[in-house]
Amino acid sequence: MLRRSPSAPPLGFATRQLQPIEVDEPIRSRTTPLHLSAGFPFDGFDDAAEHFRTGDGYSYTRVANPTITAVERRIAALEGGAEAVLVGSGQAAIAVALLGLVGAGGHVLAGASLYEGTRGLLLDDLARLGVATDFVAGSDPDAWRAAVRPETRVVLVEAIPNPRNDLVDIRAIADVAHEHGIALVVDATLATPYLLRPIEHGADVVVHSASKFLAGQGSVLGGAIVDAGTFDAERSGHLYPHLVAPSRGGGPSRVERHGPLARIAHLRDGVAVRLGPTISPLNAFLVGQGLETLSLRVERQSANALAIATFLDAHPSVASVDYSGLPSSPYRALADRYLPRGQGSVFACTLHGGQAAARRLIDALALFTPMTHLGDVRSLILHPRTTSHTQRTDAELAAAGIGPGTLRLSIGIEDVDDLVRDLERGLAAATA
Ligand SMILES: Cc1ncc(COP(=O)(O)O)c(C=O)c1O
Repeated sequence: MLRRSPSAPPLGFATRQLQPIEVDEPIRSRTTPLHLSAGFPFDGFDDAAEHFRTGDGYSYTRVANPTITAVERRIAALEGGAEAVLVGSGQAAIAVALLGLVGAGGHVLAGASLYEGTRGLLLDDLARLGVATDFVAGSDPDAWRAAVRPETRVVLVEAIPNPRNDLVDIRAIADVAHEHGIALVVDATLATPYLLRPIEHGADVVVHSASKFLAGQGSVLGGAIVDAGTFDAERSGHLYPHLVAPSRGGGPSRVERHGPLARIAHLRDGVAVRLGPTISPLNAFLVGQGLETLSLRVERQSANALAIATFLDAHPSVASVDYSGLPSSPYRALADRYLPRGQGSVFACTLHGGQAAARRLIDALALFTPMTHLGDVRSLILHPRTTSHTQRTDAELAAAGIGPGTLRLSIGIEDVDDLVRDLERGLAAATA
């Protein structure tokens, strides 16, 4: 890149501050190199034009960045998907996935048990853009089938619903979506690809809040969209005309250019690049570091969670525990089928003593951090009714099983005996 002739006059101080520095030794970094750069220089006029003609190579980090690409490939491989797109948060991942599939006049069919941010996105923001949503509880294929409308473009569920663990039969719901050629999108944040890979059960698109288990340390936000790479234009092209229509200017369509990868190509190059929720390469790097220990953390967190759910379930101050790994859970059969490696580590527990007991317990805990976050290596606790779920009416809270004494726990990797002792102390304070 240094094109200056050795005989050229010396450069001024300010110019020298800005000249590229080249390091000649071949460097083989053990970790994925962090390319903390807004963009990447072209190698002259023709290279710039070639990049814009083919899309090959790197130009600008909102479009692509080698650090982000490396982490996207790792996530796609772990999920068993064809390609992944990494964005700035889980909320951005859900928004990009939905906006790439549904537009004004369209309809989303969603599971009744959804993360509050997703629910708000559907009910407030997408509704304002002319996208309607209906919610279906449970897994009865006939109930899902009956709710499909001619305008339905997305079926959306969570692999482990937050916080009640009311699992759905992903395969049964995928089959209903596919009878109509509709994409099934699964938010697998609480499951992680270590416990459950929805694409193996028929999902077309998987989304994650990478801020949670994938990163694991609670230091960054990120979101991932993984696509199965199975877009079938014959079967579904009429539902997603933006994927089969010629591009603006009359060029080839997404399907002509990308075949079964048309959907993820549109999410990446169309929606994510245009709306711009780019993840920082530094945050992508930290998500990548987290991924290297995902299995160990999730295995430990699931084992700790099962022990704590069992302890809470037997405690006289606890009215109920919503953990699908408990033998008494109505979702145990689905857990056996979908989550044989562990049932995750985020669940709800309801105290007999209502909100007053919940307050006393949270304020008495020393090891659990009261925090609106989950999937962290540290154990966290939240009272949904006075925090994440304040926008819900009493009837909606009752339907969601969020009572005054309900707590959401996210179990970390600490020594489980310490966590149980902390909860014993909290429960003693709650009942005092
Ligand atoms: C299931 C689920 N999906 C998505 C999100 C949103 O992720 P983020 O906070 O990274 O935007 C969350 C956040 O709690 C979540 O629990």
